[in-house]
Amino acid sequence: MTKKRVAILASGGGSNALALMQAMAAPDFPARCVLVFSNKPQAGVLARALQFGVMSAVLDSNGRSDREEYDAQVLALLLEQKPDVVCLAGYMRILTPVLVDAFKDRLLNIHPALLPKFGGAGMYGQHVHQAVLEAGEKESGATVHLVDHGVDSGRILLQGKVAVQAGDTPQSLAARVLEVEHWIYPQALRELCEGMTR
Ligand code: GRF
Repeated sequence: MTKKRVAILASGGGSNALALMQAMAAPDFPARCVLVFSNKPQAGVLARALQFGVMSAVLDSNGRSDREEYDAQVLALLLEQKPDVVCLAGYMRILTPVLVDAFKDRLLNIHPALLPKFGGAGMYGQHVHQAVLEAGEKESGATVHLVDHGVDSGRILLQGKVAVQAGDTPQSLAARVLEVEHWIYPQALRELCEGMTR
């Protein structure tokens, strides 16, 4: 088995990146992590990469309004590592077509709700969980999906559910959803890599 090469893009603490790197460290996992990229020099995910001996790269997006040019530079960095699959893990930028098109059907994202509900522009972080609670939903969860030209609109690959509990706050719901994220993201990546022919 030739392991697929995976790059992770993250902007924050990187608990999903950690879950992915932990999974990929297993000998029988069909992929290995070749790069962690962040748009934020202070992102906690960079320390996670170091912990796993994974190469990391940073291109500070602060003050960059040239979205396409920025993404073209990110793409050049990524391509140096020849990734088969790219995983967004709390990457707080909406990608321009230059990146989306380069990794068509090989670019994954995780979203902390049961898409297609509670997705789209402005639906990130606590906003998502707040909206779920305000809508009186009985359940929430997480979704791994392919990235297309829309926001949270690509084909759904895997979902995991949690029950909304009486007295839940956005924070308590987020914490339970995050636990689900940590098992569905590696599982979705495994299934995608196993299904890849080349
Ligand atoms: C997660 O909730 C994920 O669903 C969303 O961003 C958050 C990232 O968390 N896309 P972490 O940095 O992986 O802990």
